[in-house]
Amino acid sequence: MRVGFLGAGLIATYHSKSLRRSGAEVECGVVRAGVYDPDPERAAAFAAASGHTVCASEDEVLDGCDVVYICTWTSEHPRQVAKAIARRLAVFCEKPLAISLAAAQDMARLVTASGVTNQVGLVLRRSPAYVWAEHLAKQPAAGRIMAVMFRDDQFIPVQGHYSSTWRGDKTLVGAGTLLEHSIHDIDMLRFVVGDIDRVSAHQANFHELDGIEDVVSATISFANGAVGTLVSVWHDNLARPSLRRTEIFCERRFIHIEGDDWVGPVHWTDSDGSEHTLEGQALCDSAEELLDGTLNPDGEFVRAVAAGRPSWPEFSTAAAAHRVVEAMYSSARGHGSAQVVAAAPSIAPAVLDVVEITTVETHPLRLAVLRDHDRTRPVGFPEDDRADTVHLGVRDATGAIVATSSWVQKPTEHAPGATAVQLRGMATAASMQGTGVGGLLLEAGARRHAEAGVQVLWARARDSALGFYAKHDFVVVGEGFVDDTTGLPHHVVTRDLTAG
Ligand SMILES: NC(=O)c1ccc[n+]([C@@H]2O[C@H](COP(=O)([O-])OP(=O)(O)OC[C@H]3O[C@@H](n4cnc5c(N)ncnc54)[C@H](O)[C@@H]3O)[C@@H](O)[C@H]2O)c1
Repeated sequence: MRVGFLGAGLIATYHSKSLRRSGAEVECGVVRAGVYDPDPERAAAFAAASGHTVCASEDEVLDGCDVVYICTWTSEHPRQVAKAIARRLAVFCEKPLAISLAAAQDMARLVTASGVTNQVGLVLRRSPAYVWAEHLAKQPAAGRIMAVMFRDDQFIPVQGHYSSTWRGDKTLVGAGTLLEHSIHDIDMLRFVVGDIDRVSAHQANFHELDGIEDVVSATISFANGAVGTLVSVWHDNLARPSLRRTEIFCERRFIHIEGDDWVGPVHWTDSDGSEHTLEGQALCDSAEELLDGTLNPDGEFVRAVAAGRPSWPEFSTAAAAHRVVEAMYSSARGHGSAQVVAAAPSIAPAVLDVVEITTVETHPLRLAVLRDHDRTRPVGFPEDDRADTVHLGVRDATGAIVATSSWVQKPTEHAPGATAVQLRGMATAASMQGTGVGGLLLEAGARRHAEAGVQVLWARARDSALGFYAKHDFVVVGEGFVDDTTGLPHHVVTRDLTAG
């Protein structure tokens, strides 16, 4: 598995080292591939330390890897993610996804529809302190979560060890402390307490950097009835690099995270008067038992890619945090007006549309669903570009293709003499499986071909999908066989289109 990096700064270095520490590098046969950074000294230093090879462009990195880490200025993320998805690469993208909510949601939609393994840099999802606090807060003994106070402060990161001038340029960073830094805090509030319904916020700009707020104070209302506050500050106290303090009040338990984001300590007090503290290695050990996998985000990402399965936290999780951030900014612009957090863009079955698509548009889903992420297996069919082949897909309300199919004029020995069409490459996005989208597509294609005078529809069906075909009036014909490309057991199924 060839891993490439775009960006060779602070966070790229963090991920590179963390991947090495995880042990997954050796386990999954990671090959350190290309790195590109427009700052050649940074690229060279990163390559020397990590074993990557300096490339002359981002395209050279993308063309030479299977997995890419996108660790560049925030404004670069959407374009680079789109390029990675066009090449069907597994992708790890730093937070924030983008400088605008619209771009972040578009990215989440694109990546989710492509089916590639994806992860975002909301690394606190694997912080022992927050994993343990979430566990404590959701235990029945704690009662309901009533309130939360979250404070996050650090020196403004255009100085000190960050020394990143781009964080002072709104065209590259998008905004200030809330988007650039406290999107982590929003994600933790959603993780530990629950979904956020409504917010009201104020902001200030003491440093007078255009569009870069350095204080945000927000009041939060959660869907589960809890309420809370978030205060996020970028100051000039260089003795305070990045510090969080979280207090969670449940009906019968008080939980308090302080000190280090990762190793705590976490304190809690119960209504029987008992007081507890967990920190350091003991906290890591307890938290890791709660997870499926290890606490190392990079090791778990690479292991998921190797196994061809999803990882977490995904782009869709980051998009949800972006919606809260946007509601807070919107409130602050309105001097604290109450704002409802937008719902995730919905995919209403009523607006699903069956449309003709191109061969290339079938590829992401064919790869994700039918090739099980094995990029070495061919994804094209010989008949793909024949003039009489039709590719039909389902677009959701947002325009994303969520199911694909290809209809090839081809006789079958099981219906000699009949005009026949073979249905190939039926694939439905994981997020839409079980929703009836596949059936909608199949029936639309069958209707279209019946009207055109085709007599028999047939397919080489995976045995695991025979139930689906039976539901749509197909019958199994002939002996079972193992398909050469996938190595999976199959049967031929046919449907009489003249039956009405
Ligand atoms: N998950 C976290 O906790 C965390 C922490 C720090 C930063 N970040 C995020 O990571 C991203 C990078 O931050 P950083 O602290 O590493 O910044 P940085 O300034 O240290 O590094 C960014 C690098 O990207 C390079 N770059 C810019 N445009 C590029 C392009 N088109 N192609 C390749 N490289 C390009 C820059 O030259 C720079 O070296 C930001 O989005 C930031 O918000 C996340």
